[in-house]
Amino acid sequence: MAIRFHEAAKEFHLYNEKISYIIKVLENGQLGHVYYGKHLTDREDFGYLIEYARRDMAPYPFEGRSDFSLEHLKQEYPTFGSGDTRYPAFELESADGSRVVDFKYKTHEIFAGKKALEGLPAVYVEDNEEADTLEIVLEDEMIQTKMILSYTIFRDRPVITRHVRFECECEAGITLLNCMSGCLDLPDKEYEMVELAGAWNRERHPHTRKLTYGVQSIYSMRGCSSHQFNPFLMLKRANADECSGEVLGFSLVYSGDFLAQAEVDNFDVTRVVMGIHPNEFRWELKKGEHFQTPEMVMVYSENGMNGMSQVYHELYRTRLARGTWRDKVRPILINNWEATYFDFNEEKILDIAEKAKEIGVELFVLDDGWFGKRNLDNCSLGDWYPNMEKLPGGITGLAKKVEEMGLKFGLWFEPEMTNKDSDLFRAHPDWLLADIRRNYCHSRNQYVLDFSKQEVVDYIYEQMRKVLTDAPVSYVKWDMNRAFSEVFSNGNGKSYQGKVRHKYILGVYSLYERLIQEFPEILFESCASGGARFDPGMLYYAPQAWTSDNTDAVDRIKIQYGTSYVYPISSIGSHVSASPNHQVFRNTSLETRANVAYFGTFGYELDITRLPEEELEQMKEQIQFMKENRALIQQGVFYRLKSPFEGNNSAWQVVSEDRSEGLVAYFRTLQPAQGKFERIYVKGLEENAKYEVKECFGSKADLGVHYGDELMYAGLNVSDCAAGIPGVAREQQGDYFSRLFYVKKIEE
Ligand code: GLA
Repeated sequence: MAIRFHEAAKEFHLYNEKISYIIKVLENGQLGHVYYGKHLTDREDFGYLIEYARRDMAPYPFEGRSDFSLEHLKQEYPTFGSGDTRYPAFELESADGSRVVDFKYKTHEIFAGKKALEGLPAVYVEDNEEADTLEIVLEDEMIQTKMILSYTIFRDRPVITRHVRFECECEAGITLLNCMSGCLDLPDKEYEMVELAGAWNRERHPHTRKLTYGVQSIYSMRGCSSHQFNPFLMLKRANADECSGEVLGFSLVYSGDFLAQAEVDNFDVTRVVMGIHPNEFRWELKKGEHFQTPEMVMVYSENGMNGMSQVYHELYRTRLARGTWRDKVRPILINNWEATYFDFNEEKILDIAEKAKEIGVELFVLDDGWFGKRNLDNCSLGDWYPNMEKLPGGITGLAKKVEEMGLKFGLWFEPEMTNKDSDLFRAHPDWLLADIRRNYCHSRNQYVLDFSKQEVVDYIYEQMRKVLTDAPVSYVKWDMNRAFSEVFSNGNGKSYQGKVRHKYILGVYSLYERLIQEFPEILFESCASGGARFDPGMLYYAPQAWTSDNTDAVDRIKIQYGTSYVYPISSIGSHVSASPNHQVFRNTSLETRANVAYFGTFGYELDITRLPEEELEQMKEQIQFMKENRALIQQGVFYRLKSPFEGNNSAWQVVSEDRSEGLVAYFRTLQPAQGKFERIYVKGLEENAKYEVKECFGSKADLGVHYGDELMYAGLNVSDCAAGIPGVAREQQGDYFSRLFYVKKIEE
């Protein structure tokens, strides 16, 4: 059991071989935070770590005592109103308007395993021996409300998951105004905060800033986790790099509005809070009702950022993602979006599918434009029945023909949206998530459906169910192409409005859950205008996500590099598209486009019926390569080696868990004149084992046999001018150049 309660000191120590987390019941009955970090040997009392302080002007709850102030004590789940003036983890209003609360420790429970979260995605265990859970119950007796703080520590992973539940037994009810999933007070501010930021087509670029006094935060108020920020932040020591140093990761298993924040007070204490964004959140609880926060997942690494990412990758791939596809390599697909956009008919689709089959593709995905009267983006969302003009046999007829060719069939939906020109909207104008008495914004000519309403979710469910039942569909791409604007649930009263944003996400999750339960064999891929909902919440339902609408190989290096901070390679939707690229008009070689796309789920998204024979031959070879290596890529251990944000060249690699094989990718943006000498330092090999190294494509040069330590410490020479190591023919060089090396352990 990895959780101890020390009765006399009233301390909880959660630990495994890697980490410790310590909580203490303070003299006032509230919870103090004692420690989070590298493993500490267990002892009866860590109370000496509580820093009591005599400081002028601080508020003191005990008469005659001037060293106990919540303004300065580190706490587990603080609020305003009893002396602490830093940003709170929660705020609660009683029926009389008072926001003063006093939650005191009542009891606790420690048990092996981890409970599921009602209606919400969460990390899980397969066996109770994998993790232990502590639930601490606090109560404010005056308002008869309980707060249950839940902590799970994994036995073999440096991971703690947290969430909070409020239970109201008060006749008059209460209102939650803010309810974070977790809070962490750290003893100093010597951290850099790293977040993933961006925009449509430029998602999840890492940004680093030194923590400073005041609040630094990232958030979304867009109804989805967003292109702009991701529900993740990292605090790293200044000396931490990719492979060494202390790094703390915070990730929220949620797909809606979020806040992730670090506050540094004037005594250099850092407070991290993370959870549902409190803006427009107002959750009334009547007697007998409860509120459950989403889950926050904290990872501790003393092996730098790669160390943190590898823990998230393995945890999210095997204990967050679920279902038939969790442990399977992903099908190599072709998607018709960038091939045809809305302009297709059955014949065109079958031509693409036939060519795709010839080169080894496994799954054909029909994207937007197959339903209602959809020939442009201004109509038919919500009318999920086939356009018989384009597809005379409907989806069922087409899917059968595709299946007869020997390919699986996949289909695009955008369940949460509608257009004004749709049967759905004409019948139910009040189903919009908008104040329909006023002007409200369109975005891409479309409107958000009010998924907080059960009847809306039910209606969409019935339509999707029909399509998925009638036709042999093996894959669904679930898109979401606009942010919220005027959030209002028509026909619902005042007290409902503060719940709408969260209820919407619960509606999305419930629809996903119904569909995955009913169609367990279907592979779901989430999407939101590319990567606006690439978050842990989605991974619980859809084990892969469309990473970005930007399919340019050079831009994708950055996007996939940033995405890999948290998300497993098996979740990163990545396709080879046309050159010149449709988003940035760049010309890149087919080889470089594939070298980037291999590090994900892999597929094609271009009109292959128009390609010359030699390119199709090259694709055949790429597909064969991916089939042989996808288990290694999607389930191996991933390392970022050289950042594309820091220079002209970048590199990453995967290595199998048993260290017997790996793939190293090297990318060079521009061709320099008289380039500098350059090496890649491979990671994760056995020092004393012999490895043969081969260039996968291009010259396919044999780079000889080397010991693991040579490749890791002396490095792999990738200089252009390298005479000693063959491999780069002059004609292969130029801008947007890339190389892929296969490293294989050989018998002594
Ligand atoms: C979004 C998706 C794209 C494509 C289009 C279709 O932009 O990210 O991949 O599906 O919608 O309209």
